[in-house]
Amino acid sequence: MSTQKALVVLEPKGAFAVQDRDIQEPGAGEVLVELRATALNPVDWKIQAFDFFITEYPAVLGTDGAGVVVKVGAGVTNVAVGDKVLFQGYFDNRRATFQQYAVVASEIVAKIPPNLSFEEASTIPLTLATAALALYSPKPQGIALAAPWEAGNRGKYAGEPIVVIGGSSSVGQQVIQFARLSGFSPIITTASPSNSALLKSLGATHIIDRSAPLSELPAAVQAITSAPVKVAYDAISAPDTQNAAYDVLAPGGKLVIVLAQAVDAGRLTPQKEVVHVFGSVQAPDNRKVGASLYAALPGLLASGEIKPNKVEVLPGGLAGIPAGLEKLRAGVSALKLVARPQENL
Ligand SMILES: NC(=O)c1ccc[n+]([C@@H]2O[C@H](COP(=O)([O-])OP(=O)(O)OC[C@H]3O[C@@H](n4cnc5c(N)ncnc54)[C@H](OP(=O)(O)O)[C@@H]3O)[C@@H](O)[C@H]2O)c1
Repeated sequence: MSTQKALVVLEPKGAFAVQDRDIQEPGAGEVLVELRATALNPVDWKIQAFDFFITEYPAVLGTDGAGVVVKVGAGVTNVAVGDKVLFQGYFDNRRATFQQYAVVASEIVAKIPPNLSFEEASTIPLTLATAALALYSPKPQGIALAAPWEAGNRGKYAGEPIVVIGGSSSVGQQVIQFARLSGFSPIITTASPSNSALLKSLGATHIIDRSAPLSELPAAVQAITSAPVKVAYDAISAPDTQNAAYDVLAPGGKLVIVLAQAVDAGRLTPQKEVVHVFGSVQAPDNRKVGASLYAALPGLLASGEIKPNKVEVLPGGLAGIPAGLEKLRAGVSALKLVARPQENL
């Protein structure tokens, strides 16, 4: 078995180091991908800082990959050696993406269309899953809307408003794009005004300055639409944003959150639902919707209906990732940090 370079966390809450690790073999239904780009996500620095999800150390992290298929396991028919693909990694050393080679089940691999670079493609998987699984998975994983990539469902929610907290976050940008595919209108989002043009290009119709007091959010939404808000997606999910998004909802409304629930107990009513998404197509409960999404994904990307986040490439290959995670933790604006695992300096 030959070896590769991998960025590992040495022990729980420990330091990062680049180490040699064995390249894994793909099993039946799996492919081995040579990673050309991997995107960074908040979960990566959170795992290193707080130690969750991981059962084996040293641990490879990383959940966003793009690269070239170099081996296929038995029974794989949808992709072949040499194909450029994107995929979501997972929280174990075979499938994580902060390394030069990773294994993934072929049903959750999508070919990259020619209009996307590896770096752009690597920004897609985690945020795509977090947006799409929340909106279109059956309960309890999601809020069970009709998936717009399936026949007859495009534009199904025309005339219904949606509120997206944090539209310029990586997740928020994907939520806005799916809201547009589903026909929601108006698509109201909170963000810094400097990101208004970007968010309008993705489908947002109204941008509310996120520095305005959140207590004013329900009134600001009502000034835009008199229709009842039945869907809100809080891509930030701080306690104050969750409470504000909950207040915006009409009876019968559903709030998606991406972090632990923090709506005040005194506010909670059986008339409004709160769903916490686990944004991974790798998770067994999400696999069916994930596979259906991945089958449609090359078309959605080629048409530009789903666009990647804006990319900043980190210097130093895998060794540059820890500094990138510090930068991400300090806060970025409408930007995805991406490393090139083959570029090891
Ligand atoms: N549950 C899951 O499976 C799952 C999956 C993925 C992510 N997450 C979590 O979701 C959160 C977002 O992740 P991400 O990668 O999308 O983050 P990100 O891209 O790093 O978020 C940065 C953006 O957040 C916006 N922002 C920050 N505070 C805000 C606020 N109070 N109101 C509105 N916008 C605000 C900023 O907007 P401006 O620049 O416009 O000011 C900035 O563009 C993280 O906490 C992450 O851990 C959870």
